[in-house]
Amino acid sequence: MAVTEMQNRIIEEIQEWKEKRNAILLAHNYQLPEIQDIADVLGDSLHLARATIDTTADVIVFCGVHFMAETAAILNPEKTVLLPDLEAGCSLADSITADQLREWKAEHPGAVVVAYVNTTAEVKAESDYCCTSSNAVDIVRSIPEDKEILFLPDMFLGSFVKRETGRENIHIWMGECHVHAGIAPHQVEGVLAQHPKADLLVHPECGCSTSSMFLKSEGVLPEDKTHILSTGNMLKHSKNSQADEFIIATEVGIIHQMQKQNPEKQFLAANPEAICPFMKMITLEKVLATLKENKHVITVPADIADKAKLSIDRMVSIG
Ligand code: 13P
Ligand code: SF4
Repeated sequence: MAVTEMQNRIIEEIQEWKEKRNAILLAHNYQLPEIQDIADVLGDSLHLARATIDTTADVIVFCGVHFMAETAAILNPEKTVLLPDLEAGCSLADSITADQLREWKAEHPGAVVVAYVNTTAEVKAESDYCCTSSNAVDIVRSIPEDKEILFLPDMFLGSFVKRETGRENIHIWMGECHVHAGIAPHQVEGVLAQHPKADLLVHPECGCSTSSMFLKSEGVLPEDKTHILSTGNMLKHSKNSQADEFIIATEVGIIHQMQKQNPEKQFLAANPEAICPFMKMITLEKVLATLKENKHVITVPADIADKAKLSIDRMVSIG
């Protein structure tokens, strides 16, 4: 995508401020193309969380959503974490509160709580393990078979994990991401009918993920061409696969990176309307303002951060 003269000037200023402040710019795969293009590190939730620990920068500008910046702040209390827009939230993280989790735990004494990273710090503080879409299965497998598990908040990821691990003792919270839940099985099937040779890449948060797994196991969807993957693993797969066409069932922002890395291949959105309004709130202007004015610094109260860090440390060390 062509960058305007105005955008170029802002990008130059961002680079100057990054140097002045010894800052690093992290961006999630769903960010606007111009943000992806200036990121020092681009990736999925797990890759970005790990990158916050590896960097020697003093300031982390998190081009993503609130829970991601909060996780970075918990892992790096000595660094300044900035979120360019405080309104960049997450409908999935909002689907469970710490009080609701405490009530759920009281109904299942002794159960192990596995929380998706798309949760608030308060919810993470009430959890035993945190996970992302790329290591949820590994994390659940690391928990002794006889332990009851409370998995939250995403029901589609939960049922994917349940199916992959074959565990019956997993209780799943009925939360969802409104963007991924909106990607329906009939939309995937419609695009697949037009492009029968395409690889189908599905994010486990999608409304179509359960049916895709089922149809794959029934042989309706081709076994070797249907893959349920995190956004980072979707990027790896699209590079390594011999296929020329790919149907992408996740937020459409990732297609920018896929197309950039594989100009000769074709990427088709299962639902072109799958756009996360929170991810798109981060603009070049806001990134510059954040660096210049040191706004909005994300902090987490020490008592909550200390408890949440235990579950986040497990997340970054497994898988
Ligand atoms: P991943 O990038 O970890 O696959 O997560 C997707 C997502 O919805 C982030 O909010
Ligand atoms: Fe949250 Fe869904 Fe947006 Fe990811 S895509 S940040 S899960 S609302």
